[in-house]
Amino acid sequence: MVSERATRTTPFAAMDVLERANRMDDVVHLEVGEPDFDTPAAVTEAAVAALRAGETSYTSSKGKPELRRAIADYYDRQYGVDVSPERIVVTSGSSPALLLAFSTLVDPGDEVVLTDPYYACYPNFVRQTGGRISTVPLSADEGFRPRVSEFARAITSDTEALLLNSPANPTGAVLDGGTLEELVGLADEADATVISDEVYHGLTYEGEDHTVLEYTDDAFVLDGFSKRFAMTGWRLGWMVAPPEYVGHVNRIAQNTLICAPNFVQSGGIAALESGADFLDEVRNTYRERRDYLVSEVEDWGLSMGYTPGGAYYLLVDVSDLPGDAFDAADFFLEDAGVAMTPGPDFGTNAEECLRVSYANSAERLAEASERIQRALESVEISAAD
Ligand SMILES: Cc1ncc(COP(=O)(O)O)c(C=O)c1O
Repeated sequence: MVSERATRTTPFAAMDVLERANRMDDVVHLEVGEPDFDTPAAVTEAAVAALRAGETSYTSSKGKPELRRAIADYYDRQYGVDVSPERIVVTSGSSPALLLAFSTLVDPGDEVVLTDPYYACYPNFVRQTGGRISTVPLSADEGFRPRVSEFARAITSDTEALLLNSPANPTGAVLDGGTLEELVGLADEADATVISDEVYHGLTYEGEDHTVLEYTDDAFVLDGFSKRFAMTGWRLGWMVAPPEYVGHVNRIAQNTLICAPNFVQSGGIAALESGADFLDEVRNTYRERRDYLVSEVEDWGLSMGYTPGGAYYLLVDVSDLPGDAFDAADFFLEDAGVAMTPGPDFGTNAEECLRVSYANSAERLAEASERIQRALESVEISAAD
C-alpha cells in the first residue's frame, strides 16, 4: 500500500507548469528557478579532466577532503568564519542536505517554524520526517521580511527547528545580519536549532550576505553550487552541521546517499577556486533584470508593493485580475505564452500572487513583458483598494 507520507506529498507546481509549458510552442519560461547562464568553463574542464583521470569511484560519504577544504576556505574568505572541514558533508545538491538535516533533527510530531511564503518544497521535507510546520506570516508591506517577535510567537515547547532562507524563494527578501543574530538568540533560548538555507547566497543585490555561522556553531547550514554557479544539473551541494550532529548526519548519509558523484566534486573545487569573477558578472546581470522587471510590473498595472533584494524571483499580486492565482497563471500561459508559477504553492500569504523568475535573458524578459501587456489589454483590472 502507498504510504501516508507519499500520499500527503504535494506536487511542486513550478515543475507542473514547466511540464505543461514544454508541451506548448514558443513559451517564455518565467516559472522555474533555473539560471540561464552556462556553467563556468573552468568547472566543466575540471570535471572532464577528473573523468578522464578515472575519478569514477565512490568518495568518502562526507565528500572529497579537497572539496571540503575548499568549502571551509570559502567560509573564511567570504564571511571571515572558521568552519572545520570535519563539519562539512557534501551532498548531491542542497535538497538532499535539507533531507539529512530534517532526518537528523526532527521526530514525528516535532514542530518546524518557517516563514509563509516559503520555498514550496519545505513542508514536504518536514512531512517526510513526520514533523509539523508552524508558520510566521510575511507581507509585501514589510518587504516579506519576518519580525523576530512573530517568530517568538510561533515557537512552542514542541519546536525543534527554525528554518530560515535568505535570500528567499519565492520573495527574494534578504535578512540583515542583526535579524539573523536575533533569530539565533531566540532559537537558543527555545532550545531549538536553526536550519539556514543559504543556496541563494552570492545573489544579493544590496548589502552583504551573512551566514548564520557568523553568530553560532549550533546551526545546520545548507548551501550548494546550483544557483550561483549555474550548476543545477550537476547536483552538488553541502551541509555544515553542528559538531555534535556530524556523526549522526554522516551515518544517515552513508546509508542513504553513499556520496556525491566523484568527478562532479572536482568541478565543485574549480567553481569555488575560480568562480568569483563569474559570480560578480552574474550578480550584476540579475540586478539589471530585477530593476527592469520591477518597473515593467508597474507598467502592467499590477502591484508588488516591495523590491526584492536577492535571488531571482519576485511575487506579483494578481488579486486585481479576474479569478484566482491559478486562473491568472492559466491566462498568462494560454493567452500570452508566458509561464509563471501560481503563488498558493508557496503558502497562504502568496495565495493571491504569481511567482516570476527572472532567470531568463533580457531579450526573453522584454518579450514576456510585451506579451503580458498585450494580453492585459483585454482584461479588466479592478481598481486597487
Ligand atoms: C530555497 C531553495 N532551497 C533549495 C533548493 C534546491 O536546490 P538544489 O537542490 O539544486 O541545491 C532550491 C531550488 O530551487 C531553492 O529554491
